[in-house]
Amino acid sequence: MSYQNLLVEEKEGIVHLTINRPKALNALNQETMGELAQFFGEDYADRRDITGVLLRGAGDRSFVAGADIKEFLGVAAAGSGEDMARKGQAVFFLIERFHRPVIALVNGFALGGGCELAIACHMRVATDTARFGQPEVNLGIIPGYGGTQRLNQLIGKGKAMELTLTGNMIDAAEAHRIGLVNYALPAEAAEEKALEILKTIGTKGPVAIEESIKAINAYYAGSQFDYEAEAFGRASATEDFMEGAAAFVEKRKANFRGK
Ligand code: COA
Repeated sequence: MSYQNLLVEEKEGIVHLTINRPKALNALNQETMGELAQFFGEDYADRRDITGVLLRGAGDRSFVAGADIKEFLGVAAAGSGEDMARKGQAVFFLIERFHRPVIALVNGFALGGGCELAIACHMRVATDTARFGQPEVNLGIIPGYGGTQRLNQLIGKGKAMELTLTGNMIDAAEAHRIGLVNYALPAEAAEEKALEILKTIGTKGPVAIEESIKAINAYYAGSQFDYEAEAFGRASATEDFMEGAAAFVEKRKANFRGK
């Protein structure tokens, strides 16, 4: 159980899990995705003695600023975008299906894969500096880690369309207003609220908690994650994505041509 990009600390039965790549605004590279899979799918998969997990990003600027765009360029160039989306979806399913509650404590940016990670968690508590968005269209791609499915579930089709098609960011107050987060509070109060929720859940019947998570998830069993992965594969194979990602790295505006 050793990680390069995750910090793990257990306090009073609650696991404080921190994604720790602050220089890249905690962007999710493949190594970090692998470690999240290891944490949720192996190391803590059978830990029924814990109350829950509080997930956050290191530093005060960002929860997670998305998939690691620099790394992803190479993946797309190799033509394996669909495969990458399927693997990422599988990691986030481990979180969504985890047997104990996982709360995202969102500080700063939760963009792209970061927003998708937050909405794969069972609940979200935002600090008042949080900013949410699905900016993939700015790069010429689409959300590929479940965002096109889970945003609908949480905030409805109209708002999901708006966020996904405009790529615009929203602040914590707006995220709270539309139901994207359970609470939006100043930083210290946000952490207290998240811990309070986990502690309350910890007083309930553990089997009931586990079965509740499964039953609520079961409602969404018909979601079209496969479709999303295929669509992500098509979008990431375009010249537009190469242009969008190059523009991000070169810190300039993308010039899309619809190819
Ligand atoms: N992947 C890889 N690196 C990323 C990243 C990502 N998703 N998001 C930020 N970074 C890196 C930047 O490249 C920069 O690295 P550098 O110092 O080596 O140049 C560093 O993190 C700080 O980001 P920067 O863009 O300089 O900060 P900012 O305050 O000007 O802007 C954001 C912050 C979040 C608005 C901007 O970084 C951004 O738009 N990131 C991409 C978000 C995105 O499109 N996510 C979806 C990906 S599918």
